Amino acid sequence: MNPLCLMEDVRKTFRMGENSVEVLKGIDLTVERGEIAAIMGVSGSGKSTLMNLIGCLDVPTSGRYLFAGREVLGLADDSLSELRNANIGFVFQSFYLLPYATVLENVLLPSLYRERAKDGAEERAVELLRLIGLEERIHFRPNRLSGGEQQRVAICRALMNDPELLLADEPTGQLDSRTASEIMNLLVAMNERGKTVIIVTHDPAIAAYANRIIRIKDGVIVDEQAD
Ligand SMILES: Nc1ncnc2c1ncn2[C@@H]1O[C@H](COP(=O)(O)OP(=O)(O)OP(=O)(O)O)[C@@H](O)[C@H]1O
Ligand SMILES: [Mg+2]
Repeated sequence: MNPLCLMEDVRKTFRMGENSVEVLKGIDLTVERGEIAAIMGVSGSGKSTLMNLIGCLDVPTSGRYLFAGREVLGLADDSLSELRNANIGFVFQSFYLLPYATVLENVLLPSLYRERAKDGAEERAVELLRLIGLEERIHFRPNRLSGGEQQRVAICRALMNDPELLLADEPTGQLDSRTASEIMNLLVAMNERGKTVIIVTHDPAIAAYANRIIRIKDGVIVDEQAD
């Protein structure tokens, strides 16, 4: 079967006025369905840039990227967002919940952009929140939740459209270590239920939850290790 993500000699250059900086300098990366992988590297090494490309939030400057067999480079913006909305869920360090929306409304958000996803959306959102242990909080606003609870809501939102791939950029960066391990256990559980999961982290304790570590340094992958 073809891999979920296949990158060949992917480069990313940012232009800033007269200057341009090459942040990713030839990435070759294959991610198979069902993996749980960590991307590690020091600050500024290009982790988030790589994650944004993997997640189709941005496109490479050059190279080749196939997501689920589809060539990403050259897709129009609307096709790209459609691909993303249907296949990829995102979790970020600073949760990004809408402050004036309830927990349920936040989780429903991704379904609003998909006509086909609207049927049964509310039941699905409630079911996800129940699964994640937040059924009592459905009508709360985010500011009444702890950091760990807010991140769990963000994970439910990321799962709303039943994506194949779950991408998490420093998902535990704002959490204490106990809450961080709860969140990691949750991501592992989602992986066991069939999601491909990629976690960006600089924390070895977080990376230890993955079954593969992809190390990036100055825009290239330096080594990979599986355990
Ligand atoms: N949109 C952009 N325009 C210009 N430069 C950028 C842009 N995005 C990222 N960069 C630069 O690319 C480099 C890598 O950034 P990136 O955010 O990918 O690093 P990171 O590994 O995620 O770091 P951190 O651990 O601090 O989150 C940095 O030097 C950054 O300044
Ligand atoms: Mg980053």
